[in-house]
Amino acid sequence: SSVKVEDPKDELQELLQTLEQKSAWNGEQLVKYKEFWFPVRLFRPILSTQKYFKAKNTDIILSTTPKSGTTWLKALTYSIVNRHMYPIDQSPLLTSNPHSVVDTFEFHTYLKQENPDLECVPNPRIFSTHISFNVLPDSIRESECKIIYICRNPLDLFTSFWNFLLENKEDNHAKPISIDEAFDMFCKGYSAFGPFWDHILGYWNAHLNDSEKVMFLKYEDLKEDIAFHIKKIAEFIGFPFSLEEEKQGVVEQISRLCSFENLSNLDVNKTGSSMIFKYSSFFRKGKVGDWTNYLTPAMAERMLNLMESKLKGSGLMF
Ligand code: A3P
Repeated sequence: SSVKVEDPKDELQELLQTLEQKSAWNGEQLVKYKEFWFPVRLFRPILSTQKYFKAKNTDIILSTTPKSGTTWLKALTYSIVNRHMYPIDQSPLLTSNPHSVVDTFEFHTYLKQENPDLECVPNPRIFSTHISFNVLPDSIRESECKIIYICRNPLDLFTSFWNFLLENKEDNHAKPISIDEAFDMFCKGYSAFGPFWDHILGYWNAHLNDSEKVMFLKYEDLKEDIAFHIKKIAEFIGFPFSLEEEKQGVVEQISRLCSFENLSNLDVNKTGSSMIFKYSSFFRKGKVGDWTNYLTPAMAERMLNLMESKLKGSGLMF
């Protein structure tokens, strides 16, 4: 009798054939898996993350929907955790983009290898992901690792996303789409890692369920008072600032290092790029309320109604 060797690629193809697919507004192919729309090109690393990632109690997982403040959260968390390793004026963030110091499961860690050896990564390990809460590997939910989630006002989220995709658009064969059509699809939930409200609600409910496990942040709150949030994050992950450090101004130093103004003006972030994205495209304006320059009052009203109906009873508001 012949031994059947399983080819993971075939398994994936078979699974893909059973799932609903759709084109997102940026022309990207999405697949619906456990109620969320995932980019087909990232589906393999997403499933590998789910299957193979073994969380340690000391791990820190940064979760976001795209364009909610991932870059900022990476820079902040990395700086808080490594502040004794590198003095601020020698931080690797001065010469590397935040996305090269903190890996994202689906874009880096599990992209090249199906099951990479992550035992050698020094503790505490920091990883980032856009994967929805319900699709996270079980070990993340079951271990004592920490999850930090950041979300953002959906009008600014869309505006940021729209500009990011224009900025990184190389494939001019993709059918051009108007901002109205794009917004319509976004509001219907057809965007990468969407529907965005379900993404937010998944982590929000997890936070309500166990606030020691899941920290829930809003971009706008960080903009309002970054020092307060740096201290809050540090406490949450078990790296609180000592009185001595506070007196020395370490919190302010981290806040300045990770600020939009500082990071966006560094050479690496002005001219560098990863295989997929220009680093400069992660630093556009960094403001609250820029949507008013792109969206009409009618669009804003539609979003308001949508959010009211989707978030009703959740205790969450934007
Ligand atoms: P805008 O397009 O509104 O400027 P992500 O990092 O999740 O991809 O999100 C990118 C958004 O965060 C962009 O928003 C970007 O400008 C903003 N951003 C990046 N770094 C930031 C920082 N250090 N402080 C504040 N906002 C930042």
